[in-house]
Amino acid sequence: MRKNIVAGNWKMNKTYAEAQELMAQLLEYKRNNTTNCEVYIAPPALYLTKAVEIFVNGEVGVFAQDVSEYASGAYTGEISVDMLKSVEADGSLVSHSERRTFHGETDSHANRKVKALLDKGLTPIYCNGEKLEERKAGRHFEVVKNQTETALFTLSADEIKKVVIAYEPVWAIGTGETATAEQAQEVHAYIRSLIADKYGKEVADEVSILYGGSVKPDNAKEIFSQPDVDGGLIGGAALKIEDFTKIIEGFN
Ligand code: G3H
Repeated sequence: MRKNIVAGNWKMNKTYAEAQELMAQLLEYKRNNTTNCEVYIAPPALYLTKAVEIFVNGEVGVFAQDVSEYASGAYTGEISVDMLKSVEADGSLVSHSERRTFHGETDSHANRKVKALLDKGLTPIYCNGEKLEERKAGRHFEVVKNQTETALFTLSADEIKKVVIAYEPVWAIGTGETATAEQAQEVHAYIRSLIADKYGKEVADEVSILYGGSVKPDNAKEIFSQPDVDGGLIGGAALKIEDFTKIIEGFN
């Protein structure tokens, strides 16, 4: 059966000292508490090796925030899947909305990045979701359908089972405006139905679909209680140990 996951995307936050402190707090928390979900972090790439060293027994999964679609070569500033694998990272976020907005990333890029990760045995956390104007125009299902099909539907059934999807309506990211639990459930169920139509229900039931967008300690439990919501991709609230651990406890 699919996994419940709470993943913290640290984005471009924290100095090295601050990052080590938060990792140490998280390790301490994991050692002293049983969690009903897997816990992942996606710190800035510069800190991945330290994260792997701190979570040496796999207490917390370690993910990059982005990865190159290319294997190696003259791509200044990029990090390859092989590099992530060589430092024992578990995977990478793919096509987060901020990569789409600020770096022109599309679902075609996402498709190649997802495939590159899977080919080397790493886990992609593929992010999608509609913008505010698309939601207002009632086009959110259509947008998410196009995104999901372009990014994922060239994969085999065995491959797509290994993908984690994060539905993040852009209007809810960092805005304090959370989708209601019903809005999240509606889109998650729709994404799962798309996968079921293409690959069958058994495959669709294996795919973890996370919600992202202003998840906080006080709304996590309700959102996570929805049948097709398998956890969260947390931004701002992942930067403080008290908030992040309370969100993890949304599964208790
Ligand atoms: O990757 C995380 C999402 O962008 C959500 O960010 O929790 O700060 O709204 P947020």
